[in-house]
Amino acid sequence: MKIIVTMGRGGTGKTSFVALMTKYFIENGEKPLLLVDADPDQNLEEMVGVNLKEEGKKTISELLVETFLEEGGTTVGVPPTERIENKIWAYGMHEDEFFDLIALGTKWVEGCYCLPNAALKGALEALTKNYKYILIDSPAGLEHLNRRITSRVDDIFDIIDPSKKSFDHVERAYRIAKEVKIEFKNFYVVGGFRFPQELGKQAQESLGFKFLGKIARDERVEEYVLAGKSLLNLPSESPAYVSVKKIMGESGYSK
Ligand SMILES: Nc1ncnc2c1ncn2[C@@H]1O[C@H](COP(=O)(O)OP(=O)(O)OP(=O)(O)O)[C@@H](O)[C@H]1O
Ligand SMILES: [Mg+2]
Repeated sequence: MKIIVTMGRGGTGKTSFVALMTKYFIENGEKPLLLVDADPDQNLEEMVGVNLKEEGKKTISELLVETFLEEGGTTVGVPPTERIENKIWAYGMHEDEFFDLIALGTKWVEGCYCLPNAALKGALEALTKNYKYILIDSPAGLEHLNRRITSRVDDIFDIIDPSKKSFDHVERAYRIAKEVKIEFKNFYVVGGFRFPQELGKQAQESLGFKFLGKIARDERVEEYVLAGKSLLNLPSESPAYVSVKKIMGESGYSK
């Protein structure tokens, strides 16, 4: 089981990168695959052609609130972790031939509920054992690192644009991940679609992390996102997809 997380400042292309990685894993027959939408805006769903609401599915936050704050002790005897895990399987999980998907939802970021958080962490640990790859799409910003939905990650992909702020973000993200004791094996830097290729070397030298290449600017990606179409249906020769395949190869995921 491998856990892969994308990070980066707002709008650098995190979510589309996760969608294109998903396409890559599907085309390589890699499964089972779990996508975790950790952004309250829930953009990932649309980019991979899923609509939880229409399916009658709930976000993890909604299930947590129902289970621990509204129901009261109706299911006494069942440990909290199991209670929430069972609910996620039954009411929170999109499942299809190619991947499963859960969304953490909004209430997740409001307030601090220690019991639900602890229960959720246990539930996610149990649940994720069923998959080969888990792809987590993070919101912009770094606050979510403190919530530590996972304490062990394999690869972090930090998507950058050419701004000074983006470079600073990389350093802070790395530091915070260390500070909150998230264990990770690799911390990679990826140039977003606005990142000039020629700055790659400089990024690697000044940041000291492996630069895997950049995601190509691709009009079709823009068009698909605007129209709410799934990026999984992009033609295989689409520049953005071709560049993501190369990046995956650079990080050791090629078959
Ligand atoms: N390869 C690309 N080529 C051209 N445009 C792109 C590409 N990737 C993303 N975009 C555009 O940039 C926008 C933001 O992309 P995306 O949602 O993937 O970024 P994000 O980092 O997840 O944003 P947020 O911080 O809001 O979550 C998209 O709506 C799309 O229009
Ligand atoms: Mg996003």
